[in-house]
Amino acid sequence: MSDHDAPAVRTLDYTDGVITMIDQTALPQDEVWLEIDNVADLVAAIKRLSVRGAPAIGVAGAYGIAMAARLHDPLTDTDAFETAVHDIREARPTAVNLAYTVDRVAPIARTDPAEAEAEAHRIRDEELAASVAMGELGADLVLELTGADSIRAMTICNTGGLATVERGTALAVIQTLNERSALAEAIPLETRPLLQGGRLTTWELQRMGAPFRLIVDSAGPFLLSRGAADVVLIGADRIAANGDTANKIGSFSLALAAKHAGVPFIVVAPESTIDMSTASGDDIEIEDRGPAEVASVRSTAIAPEGTDAINPAFDVTPAELITAIVTDTRIIRLAAGETLTSEANG
Ligand code: MRU
Repeated sequence: MSDHDAPAVRTLDYTDGVITMIDQTALPQDEVWLEIDNVADLVAAIKRLSVRGAPAIGVAGAYGIAMAARLHDPLTDTDAFETAVHDIREARPTAVNLAYTVDRVAPIARTDPAEAEAEAHRIRDEELAASVAMGELGADLVLELTGADSIRAMTICNTGGLATVERGTALAVIQTLNERSALAEAIPLETRPLLQGGRLTTWELQRMGAPFRLIVDSAGPFLLSRGAADVVLIGADRIAANGDTANKIGSFSLALAAKHAGVPFIVVAPESTIDMSTASGDDIEIEDRGPAEVASVRSTAIAPEGTDAINPAFDVTPAELITAIVTDTRIIRLAAGETLTSEANG
């Protein structure tokens, strides 16, 4: 079998109290599968980004609550269960999906622990269906907005099956364009410091047989100014009520450059990433991951020992720079004056 017909990877699964996940820190060199059967290991896996991407950590969190309810009966071992809920929910702060899924499964586990597993599976299935829907809606929109029939799509971080459960968000749009023979090339940014674009998006694009060329992060804005891409497609970790969007650091600079170049800038995310209780991007907590990731690449130091660094994992793109948000159920055309609460969008 060539890379081009490699089957889809299902990032995450759960059977009988054990979460199985591909270890994204080992890719692309090694395909390692982790079997996680306790809360401390799950929290550590989320924190070190073995499982990452907003929808994927949401699903992992849902399974984590189901697993915790098996280990600590919420009705009799309440303190241990509630500590587990807290630790999972707080493992990463920016992606709203984690809090959303924990808050969905935990109340069910508190009254009927067995039903928690069914709810977690429902969340996984919803993410799968959402990825397919976003791919179709997004591909239609890209073709409509660009008027082109062969698309050059720039993207950042990893928003594919690894970041969801299968197919993804922004990368699902690219995959759908490729399946429709409408993808000229994908242009992923490498995405320092942890190289999700260079390590993971390339791995997925290669497996799906899509044409692509990798660029360094700082080349993105310049290449947009030279007309190298027809569209920028990004995922999201949290979309505030006014449309401001938190996503991987570097998204904001791409949005500024896309505006300057007149290139559509499209956010692709499931409805579960929209957080109407957060008014604007100013209210979104941005995870700071500390200096070590900046001062090194894949554990090799690139700066003198003791170098301090600033390491925001995400930035916020203001709504005014976003052409449209594509979810699994609707398209919100921000550039045309629609809002997240407009009646018209659908
Ligand atoms: O730090 P990461 O790798 O979890 O960041 C992921 C992103 O920024 C993604 O773009 C976002 O979660 C959407 S994934 C479908």
